[in-house]
Amino acid sequence: MTTSAAPRHARAPELAVSTTGLRKTYRTRKGRRVAVEGLDLHVPRGGVHGFLGPNGSGKTTTIRMLLGLVRPDSGSMTLFGKPVPAQLPAVVDRVGAIVEQPKFFPAFTARRNLELLAAGIGAPKQRVPEVLAEVGLGERGGDRFRSYSLGMKQRLAIAGTLLKDPELLIFDEPTNGLDPAGIHEIRQTMRGLADAGRTVLVSSHILNEVQQVADTVTIIGRGRLLAEGDVDAILARGGTEAVRVRVPDPAAAAEVLARVGFAPSPGDPGTVLVRSGAPGVPLDSAQVNRALADHGIYLAELVWQRPDLEEVFLSLTAEEHLGAGAPRAAPPAPLAPTAPRRSGGRS
Ligand SMILES: Nc1ncnc2c1ncn2[C@@H]1O[C@H](COP(=O)(O)OP(=O)(O)OP(=O)(O)O)[C@@H](O)[C@H]1O
Ligand SMILES: [Mg+2]
Repeated sequence: MTTSAAPRHARAPELAVSTTGLRKTYRTRKGRRVAVEGLDLHVPRGGVHGFLGPNGSGKTTTIRMLLGLVRPDSGSMTLFGKPVPAQLPAVVDRVGAIVEQPKFFPAFTARRNLELLAAGIGAPKQRVPEVLAEVGLGERGGDRFRSYSLGMKQRLAIAGTLLKDPELLIFDEPTNGLDPAGIHEIRQTMRGLADAGRTVLVSSHILNEVQQVADTVTIIGRGRLLAEGDVDAILARGGTEAVRVRVPDPAAAAEVLARVGFAPSPGDPGTVLVRSGAPGVPLDSAQVNRALADHGIYLAELVWQRPDLEEVFLSLTAEEHLGAGAPRAAPPAPLAPTAPRRSGGRS
C-alpha cells in the first residue's frame, strides 16, 4: 500500500451524525431544566467517536433525540445526511443502538436469545453466529445468558445491535458497571467494529476511558460543546504540560497563580493544576513554587502531568468550577477544526 492510497475508511462526503443548534429542556417541578443547549455535533463516518461529558451533561438526552425517542425543542439533526426524526424510517436500519440495557432471558443460551431478537426485528437468523463471532463470543454462544460475566452480557447486547448489519452504532455508556477487564473487552470490541468499517458513537462520563480507543471526540459540559475533533489534536492543544500542586487552600493558590500569569484550574481535591499562562512559553515549575511561596503558600507536593482528556475538560470548564455560583462562561471555541477527519488506527 502506498502512502497515497485511500484510507481504510474512505472519507464519505456526509457525516454519520450531525446536529446543529440542538436544544432540549425538560419540565420539572422547579421549572425548566436545560439538558442540551445549542449543541453542534459532528461525527465523521468510520472510526470510534467518543461523546464525552460529566454526569448530567446531556449525552443520553442527545442520543435519545437522535434515535427519535425524545423530541428536541429546537435545532436540527441528521443521520447519514438525512434529516431526523423526519426521515428516521429511511435510515433506521443503518443504525444499531444500546441506550437502555436490552432484556435477555437468563435461562436461554446467548444464541437462542439472539435468534429470538432477530425474529423480533426481522433480521436473518444466519446473522446470529456471525454477530456472536464479531463480538468475540463465537465459542460461548451455547452458554446460558445467566452464566455470562457482565462484560460478556454487554458484548451480547452489542451483538444484538449488529443483527441488521448497521453502519452506525450508538452506545450510551456501554462500560458502566464493568470492571477493568470488562471495560477492556468492550473497548476491544468497539475498536474491532470500527476497524471493520463501521462508525461507533460511544458516550462516556469517564473521559480517559474512551481516550484510548476513540479516533475523534466531542466533549460537552452542561449541554454545550466544549471541544471536538481528533483526539491527538485536542490533547496537543488542550493538554499542554502542567503541574499538579497540592496546597492547603487550592482556591487561594489558584488566585495567586492566575495573578502572576499562570493558568490554574482545579485538580483533584486539595490540588490545583497549573499550566503556562502564555501560549508557546514553557511551564517553569520552579516559578510556580516561588510564586506560591512569595505569597506564603507552601506546597506539599508538585507533580508533572501527562496530558489527558480529563485535564482538557477541567481546563475548559475551569471558570465554572472555580467560581461557584458565578455566571456561566460563554462556551469556548472548539479546539480543533470541525471537518471530519480520521486518524490512523489507534489501538
Ligand atoms: N426525563 C427527564 N426529566 C427531567 N430532567 C431530565 C430528564 N432526563 C434528563 N434530565 C436532566 O437533563 C440533564 C441531562 O441529562 P442526561 O441524562 O442527558 O445527561 P447524561 O450526560 O446522559 O448524564 P449521565 O452521565 O449521568 O448519564 C440532567 O440535568 C438531567 O437531570
Ligand atoms: Mg446518560
